[in-house]
Amino acid sequence: MKIGKIIVAAFFAAGALSFASAATAEVNFKRCAACHGLKAEKVPPGGTIATATVSKEELKKSLKAYKTNKEFGGKMKATMQLQVKPFTEEDLDALADYIFTNFHVEK
Ligand code: HEC
Repeated sequence: MKIGKIIVAAFFAAGALSFASAATAEVNFKRCAACHGLKAEKVPPGGTIATATVSKEELKKSLKAYKTNKEFGGKMKATMQLQVKPFTEEDLDALADYIFTNFHVEK
């Protein structure tokens, strides 16, 4: 009986957690929109591609690379290094999921 309750509680906690991270990504994305557009549709100033056209895997890879690899990126990489600084890798994955799920367009 007790174990059943614990399992149910854990199930709800996990559900709440994934909901929270999608909601957090939505909030976090607001700071990206200034340069990337409200739907990630813009080429940011000094950038080369509209983020909405990028695959989910590529988004995850580049966001984490801006955080971990100083050599990664183009001539504006310092801008993005600053942008990803406050976020954990989990936050960045959630942001990539959020952007791809809501805004992806084919090139
Ligand atoms: C101050 C303007 C600015 C803000 C704010 C900003 N970016 Fe960028 N972003 C850029 C520029 C400029 C580049 C190109 C950087 C380079 O030369 O490597 C870029 C590149 C990228 C790239 C790699 C290229 C692409 O479009 O796939 C991703 C992904 C990205 N940004 C996501 C984000 C996310 C997510 C946020 C919010 C957390 C964000 N950016 C906030 C300006 C910005």
